[in-house]
Amino acid sequence: MTQQIRIGLFGTGRIGQVHAMSVAAIEDAELAWVCDPFVEGAERTAAEYGGKVSTDPAEVFASGEVDAVIIAAPTATHVDLIDAAIDAGVPVLCEKPIDLDLERVDRLRAKAAAATVPIVLGFNRRFDRHFAELHRRVSAGEIGTLEQVLITSRDPAEPPAGYLASSGGIFRDMTIHDLDMARFFVPDIVEVTARGANTFSATARELGDFDSAVVTLRGAGDELVVITNSRHAAYGYDQRFEVFGSEGLLQVGNQTDTLVRHWGAGAVEALEPYQNFFLQRYAEAYRLEVVEFLMAVRGEPSRSPGFEDGRAALVLADAADRSARTGGSVTVDLSR
Ligand SMILES: NC(=O)c1ccc[n+]([C@@H]2O[C@H](COP(=O)([O-])OP(=O)(O)OC[C@H]3O[C@@H](n4cnc5c(N)ncnc54)[C@H](O)[C@@H]3O)[C@@H](O)[C@H]2O)c1
Repeated sequence: MTQQIRIGLFGTGRIGQVHAMSVAAIEDAELAWVCDPFVEGAERTAAEYGGKVSTDPAEVFASGEVDAVIIAAPTATHVDLIDAAIDAGVPVLCEKPIDLDLERVDRLRAKAAAATVPIVLGFNRRFDRHFAELHRRVSAGEIGTLEQVLITSRDPAEPPAGYLASSGGIFRDMTIHDLDMARFFVPDIVEVTARGANTFSATARELGDFDSAVVTLRGAGDELVVITNSRHAAYGYDQRFEVFGSEGLLQVGNQTDTLVRHWGAGAVEALEPYQNFFLQRYAEAYRLEVVEFLMAVRGEPSRSPGFEDGRAALVLADAADRSARTGGSVTVDLSR
């Protein structure tokens, strides 16, 4: 491998742009190939961040000119592209979720476990510096024995109907990030109880999906995690995190671009609105996620979540969906 890590990027849509920007900003990495069947997207991305253009992933692997690949193509392509990366002996960072269908994931599971190249999942929130610091302090014992985790995650507005229709539902599309964050703190989850509701979105209702959800997870050590999701929030992107233990509590609140406060007739101590959505709120985390992936590519110790973390999040999302539809709790065994 050359000193400079040559990256192949699959998919140049919303999240592909973010990864292209991250690679361009990292000194010892470069975008070598940009691949998208929507060739204008690939060309535009390559013109801005570098790299050769392709519409065919096989051409990228066959070129022998990539040391690692990032999969930012639609979810339905992930399993095949991870499979191709393993065959090509190329490390891979794949966006979440691995797939919407656990059976497809499980057909690749043994091969992924036997792979000699790193397979990393795009759970970017683990790399948010506030959440990472909170995790470090919990691990250092600052709040004693972990007893409860509270995750609040609300999007500013619901996505377009076309996106919702192919999203796999709120638990597999949205809650999956929170389920991974739950496992960041309580890796061994044994029970899932979820409730879904239709509070405002006619589209979600028509699709048989929910626009509001609460999930309670039980850990093997009797830790409880409560996740609260909504597809809308009048005040913007709501991302809060709290961990409670025998010796205290650690909390991360929402972020604004600056800390300037305003006093006026209608409100006092008013902050500007929260950072608008995930591209703003997690901009740094997306870059640190790629930095950490490159450490794995170089064979250095890395905290990147892997294939099994991606699978575990999907198992929990499936269980949450089942619980919400049946009204019962679902027992899970993530060790199997
Ligand atoms: N981690 C996060 O916060 C986050 C945020 C958004 C999206 N995602 C995930 O990223 C993936 C992409 O989402 P998006 O919102 O960027 O989608 P998008 O529709 O904006 O972009 C996807 C792009 O991939 C291209 N594409 C389709 N098939 C391809 C193939 N076989 N090879 C290469 N490119 C291909 C499409 O032409 C399109 O340009 C999804 O799996 C989604 O769940 C993750």
